[in-house]
Amino acid sequence: MTGEKVTLVEVGLRDGLQNEATAVSHEDRARWFNALADTGLTRIEAGSFVSPKWVPQMANTDAVMQAIRRRDHVSAEVLVPNSKGLEAALAADADVIAVFTAASESFNRKNINCSIEESIARFEPVVSGAKSAGKRVRAYVSCVVGCPYEGPIAPGQVADVVQKLLELGADEVSLGDTIGVARPREIHALLDATLSLMPTENLALHCHDTRGQAIANIYAGLERGIRIFDSAVAGLGGCPYAKGATGNVATEDVLYLLQGEGFETGVDLHAVARVGREICELLGRSNPSRTGKALTAH
Ligand code: HMG
Ligand code: MG
Repeated sequence: MTGEKVTLVEVGLRDGLQNEATAVSHEDRARWFNALADTGLTRIEAGSFVSPKWVPQMANTDAVMQAIRRRDHVSAEVLVPNSKGLEAALAADADVIAVFTAASESFNRKNINCSIEESIARFEPVVSGAKSAGKRVRAYVSCVVGCPYEGPIAPGQVADVVQKLLELGADEVSLGDTIGVARPREIHALLDATLSLMPTENLALHCHDTRGQAIANIYAGLERGIRIFDSAVAGLGGCPYAKGATGNVATEDVLYLLQGEGFETGVDLHAVARVGREICELLGRSNPSRTGKALTAH
């Protein structure tokens, strides 16, 4: 695997901050975006264009998008739940539009107030509108191994949703272990069911570290050829509609693993760790990234 490229999608400023008790100012969000881009990360979620009544922390994503420094090699990505969100995302000139649904009916209802089928129908104009505007479309599937309301989710259920998203025209699918219950055996079963549906290079893994298995799960993904992983600086995150879900796997921890395995990421691990420390200090929280803590210990 030595020398192969792995791409990280930095989700801390979206998946992370959407879950913080206090909303962070758009100035800080934009400053952190720029700092993360300086570390060599090339795909960074800037926020989401969702209802501020549902997720107030992501209000002012338009102001974040305006304040960040746009660079040719850095993709500024946003989440969009419907046509209204798409309109805002296009006005902000987002590079990647991400739609999101789930493999669990109950979770989907709590998260976006509709069934899986309704969400797919709602995405139809979003995906076609995004593609006509020349944007890449990412599609998230949440609860790919377990759901906080329904328990274990069968891989076949995930494959059905992935298939529909591909039929809509999604360029990339990110499989989310939203509540961090997966272990490598379950990741392999999930990939057995989904890898045959699409080119491996278009499939991403989005691991939360609730039970400390995220790095093992990412290793399983690497073994199966997955080369796109979502992660959050300083392990920020959780999900407002998945009680108890802790943060995303920390970008610092994933980078440490990837360096050790000889993958190319183009990202400066120490620089990410410094940004992670600053964010934790400003938020007044401890840093769950073991690597981040080790590298920034005074
Ligand atoms: P609803 O209440 O059914 O929709 O919510 P609605 O159409 O009746 O709209 C309600 C109000 O929101 C209206 O305002 C709309 O205009 C407004 P009012 O008339 O009451 O003043 N509205 C919007 N405002 C701004 N931007 C929009 C927008 N749409 C409607 N795009 C809706 C349905 C989908 C809007 C709502 O449920 C929602 O916004 N949900 C977002 C939930 C969310 O962001 N969850 C976190 C992201 S998913 C995640 O974290 C998982 C992931 O990380 C992967 C993993 O870990 O699994 C991706
Ligand atoms: Mg998530």
